[in-house]
Amino acid sequence: MSQPGDFDAVRKDIIAVLKQPKYDDGSAGPVLVRLAWHASGTYCKETDTGGSNGAGMRYEAEGGDPANAGLQHARVFLEPIKEKHSWITYADLWTLAGVVAIQAMGGPEIQWKPGRTDFVDDSLLPPRGRLPDAAQAADHLRHIFYRMGFNDQEIVALSGAHNLGRCHADRSGFEGPWVNSPTRFSNQYYKLLLKLQWKPKKWDGNFQYAAKAPGADDDDEELMMLPTDYALIQDDKFRPWVQKYAEDRDLFFSDFAKVFAKLIELGVYRDETGIARADKMKKVPSEYKSAPQKSQTPGAPGAGKDGEAAPLAKQNREGVMHAEAKL
Ligand code: HEM
Repeated sequence: MSQPGDFDAVRKDIIAVLKQPKYDDGSAGPVLVRLAWHASGTYCKETDTGGSNGAGMRYEAEGGDPANAGLQHARVFLEPIKEKHSWITYADLWTLAGVVAIQAMGGPEIQWKPGRTDFVDDSLLPPRGRLPDAAQAADHLRHIFYRMGFNDQEIVALSGAHNLGRCHADRSGFEGPWVNSPTRFSNQYYKLLLKLQWKPKKWDGNFQYAAKAPGADDDDEELMMLPTDYALIQDDKFRPWVQKYAEDRDLFFSDFAKVFAKLIELGVYRDETGIARADKMKKVPSEYKSAPQKSQTPGAPGAGKDGEAAPLAKQNREGVMHAEAKL
């Protein structure tokens, strides 16, 4: 347990869970970054709904969205931290984990502000279908990211997060890493997009592009690009930004830091005390309200087992309903 508000203590513990020798490429970092992004990327500026406030993925309606498949691993990595620092909200923990992971993997320092609250039920969740579909092209990217309030340059900068991690056939239907060092933040993704000869992958899975890394042996893993990644070099307005970021690492790091900070602020409106309102419309008094932790006991009702679509959702819903009943 730490003092409420001691975010530095939480940061240290996030760094301590990053090294995961038996998981993927040895790091929880990439999937934590994806958790922060999917928590935020549901925002719609027209209706002012969705975004990183609320930690809606604890509920089946959002956590079980097929677009969020695999993110239960990220949430499970963070549970011991939530247990130790139970005062922190899930919404703050998930976004903080993303920025801490990016910096720890060699990326830029990203501004992060606390104050997000956790929804107490699933009534304010955004509808499913707001996250991008990797099988599509440039017009779809614009449709999705303009809805959040981003422009073309920001779309290209945000996509640079695909320097990290990999696709998993059992989660998204796509397979493989984008770069050779998927746990080191860099601008390699843009360089490879421009430099390699991307060809449709010959396999039974979803359509994706594949290429061998320069100097790779026959049995080395292929690199990949999603159709939405490849769209960045096919589109006349996106491509110049890919070129700029491939040539200028510092520009990419600085633009990425700005745009990721903007991403994790979507849907967060703080009052004068710095606490975000869970329900802007009803103007409920603001309170730094963290949801109860999920059960640590395997097999407990709603505890779920790793690999299910949203193992934390039901448990937390029950926990929250219990808390509500006591009010
Ligand atoms: C531009 C539209 C985007 C599409 C269509 C897209 C799609 C995907 C897909 C299909 C995966 C593989 C998931 C899996 O199989 O595990 C993935 C992974 C990932 N995405 Fe994106 N993504 C997009 C934008 C972003 C953004 C904006 C970020 C962060 C700023 C991001 C960060 C990541 C990371 C870090 C991973 C690796 C996760 C891991 O290793 O488990 N993506 N993305």
